[in-house]
Amino acid sequence: MQDTFGRTIDYLRLSITDRCNLRCRYCMPEAGVAPLEHADILSYEELLRVAAAALRLGVRKIRVTGGEPLVRRGIVDFIGRLAALPVAAEITLTTNGLLLADLAAPLKAAGLSRVNVSLDTLHPERFAAITRRPGLEKVLAALAAAEAAGLTPLKINMVPIRGVNEDEIADFARLALERPWQVRFIEFMPVSGGLDYPPESRFPAAEIVDALGRLGTLEPVPRQGAAGPARLYRYPGAPGEIGVIPAVSTHFCGECNRLRVTADGRLRPCLLSAEEVDLRGVLRDPEATPEQLEALLLGATTAKPERHGIGEEGFTPGKRRMQGIGG
Ligand code: 5AD
Ligand code: SF4
Repeated sequence: MQDTFGRTIDYLRLSITDRCNLRCRYCMPEAGVAPLEHADILSYEELLRVAAAALRLGVRKIRVTGGEPLVRRGIVDFIGRLAALPVAAEITLTTNGLLLADLAAPLKAAGLSRVNVSLDTLHPERFAAITRRPGLEKVLAALAAAEAAGLTPLKINMVPIRGVNEDEIADFARLALERPWQVRFIEFMPVSGGLDYPPESRFPAAEIVDALGRLGTLEPVPRQGAAGPARLYRYPGAPGEIGVIPAVSTHFCGECNRLRVTADGRLRPCLLSAEEVDLRGVLRDPEATPEQLEALLLGATTAKPERHGIGEEGFTPGKRRMQGIGG
């Protein structure tokens, strides 16, 4: 699939639930958000039809997201069915890690290639402050289990927030000196209103790179193909890699290769634009054909904007929180 701006779209992000077992302050309010009704959520059957259509159109990488995807029952079986679709694709998953320790080996056996684990601090009490739940020990156990199970290369996503955890950038970077992990720093995106960290909490990519430079000389790693939005670096001799994702301060939109599907079956051509295309209607219409589903996917590709408008005048954050889109 090619979009209007010549980008190849070969990556699909599927959010399979809007629920989460954490309440990260930059993502969800303490009370949680009103969960979607069960009937509004795409069934695994429906998700598989979306995935199959996307694969027929050239998608070769599918990332399963949430909310927290591992809270949905039947996830291991679902991954197995995704991996068994007629067109082979790389299947990955983004998780907060809380439930991963026990699921890592079964997920790998089912066909999952690897995982991205979100982790913003290595201090237990800070973990509880940011996510409003305890659980650091479980996430650390999950990292070990994921590595042992071969869900590699393991990627860790850390969001530095000014005044909260930006002092831990070097500690996270050190993980890449010790382990063959890709430690990625994501610039905080002030995209949904009413959450605990104001826009001034954004710790810009340039400052992240400065902080990383204090630990050692960062060598840029040449990108291979459509490498996604992360700028990759390596410390000489280190087994792991460092990624910096300048979500706000740079327009990486030129390299955008993805479509997103929300848990309630809407296609989001762009993470940061409120535009959505309803898939559920077609999925639940007994008369609808697989071609109609493909046409919607192709249409959403055409609807991808050239670039997002965050940080520009006139940008208004969408109503959906990150947890409702799957990041
Ligand atoms: N800005 C940047 N990253 C965010 N994530 C969630 N909300 C935000 C935000 N506002 C990250 C999570 C996780 C990934 C799915 O998205 O930390 O790593
Ligand atoms: Fe859950 Fe991820 Fe949102 Fe945290 S950032 S509340 S782990 S969906």
